Amino acid sequence: MPKFLYSQQFKNTFSDKKIRNSCEKFAESLRHEIKEKKIKALEIVDSSLDLEELQIFAQKISAYKKTLVLGVGGSSLGGKTICALKTQQKVEFIESIDPSTLHDCLAKIDFKNTFFLVISKSGETIETICQTLIILDELDRQKIKNFAKQFLFVTESESNSLAKIAKKIGAEITPHSNKIGGRYSCFSVVGLLPALIAGIDAKKIRSGAKKILDDFLVSDSVINSCSIQLSAFEKGFTSNVVMPYIDVLKNFTDWYRQLWAESLGKNGFGSTPINSMGTVDQHSQLQLYLDGPKDKFFTFITSKKQSQDFKIKDLAGCETLFGNKKLSEVVAIEQQTTIAVLDNKKLPIRIFEVKKIDEEVLGGLMMQMFLETILISYVKGLNPFDQPAVELRKDLAKKLLNK
Ligand code: PA5
Repeated sequence: MPKFLYSQQFKNTFSDKKIRNSCEKFAESLRHEIKEKKIKALEIVDSSLDLEELQIFAQKISAYKKTLVLGVGGSSLGGKTICALKTQQKVEFIESIDPSTLHDCLAKIDFKNTFFLVISKSGETIETICQTLIILDELDRQKIKNFAKQFLFVTESESNSLAKIAKKIGAEITPHSNKIGGRYSCFSVVGLLPALIAGIDAKKIRSGAKKILDDFLVSDSVINSCSIQLSAFEKGFTSNVVMPYIDVLKNFTDWYRQLWAESLGKNGFGSTPINSMGTVDQHSQLQLYLDGPKDKFFTFITSKKQSQDFKIKDLAGCETLFGNKKLSEVVAIEQQTTIAVLDNKKLPIRIFEVKKIDEEVLGGLMMQMFLETILISYVKGLNPFDQPAVELRKDLAKKLLNK
């Protein structure tokens, strides 16, 4: 499980008693809700029964060469994050409806040998409906018969637009729990069915998440983390940079960005999530982080062990600083120096240090971020599970499409 380290600066400057008390108070309410099983998105990690059913789906679907997941936002980012754990070509996610992207993606596909997993909680999302209808048209154009068996729809009701399409073509529908919001659905069918198809151990994802959830019930780790972040926010650190030095966490940063932004950006409150990747973004963002406005707090995610490594060998007569070093040592020095220079600038930093990235650790990290986001929103009197402002744009788009 991750080890949580905070820079001295972060700890000293930002422990505000009032905020700390408030975090403790709301943590008690959250613990109570968890014990009473009132938050389905969290409670689900305690169960493995549904995984057997998902495994059966996954086995059938795996017979196809490729699975395309159609969906966007909370319906895709969790699954994408988990599937990134494995180098695989089995599961691909289409999120964009840029016609060129969709064209290029579909041009590569063997339609007879592809499974289409359509995920949308509401069943009314513009992007997902368009993707589905375009694919159906293409199947028809290619005169592929009996294609209904190549589809599974994951949606919350039997009467929304996507469910109607599913019924019309005779495809199977499996429920998306109406008690789990999109961005909180990674531990449900939404995130774990794509994971199982990609050959990832879904039980371990849940067990890692459960360890962090259980730990929250008895320890102060999430409270510490939230009170420090809220104190930093009050002191003007209103941007939230997440910077892993582990490439498979790139999708995790996209997932986290949605979780943080949609859950907390309400009633004038919110801090802007910024995703960065070490070492690459040292060469594009670090100047701003070091010498721009002092308004960012930083979360680094680092790994002690790498699954692969290289020994760097100098060319004869052409010595560099790297000869005889392992590539992992170079990465370690890069992350250590980035953290050191930010710390010297007295910017607030925390580090999640993991031994290595695997299913359990990723599940744990995702649960940690859920708990932090929910607790901070409770302290600020916000509902972490809705996104009312986003509906404004969706309604307007539907009005225009209706004309
Ligand atoms: O978190 C959310 O609720 C949203 O980002 C949704 O996931 C996103 O809009 C997709 O919605 P749906 O799953 O209904 O297609």
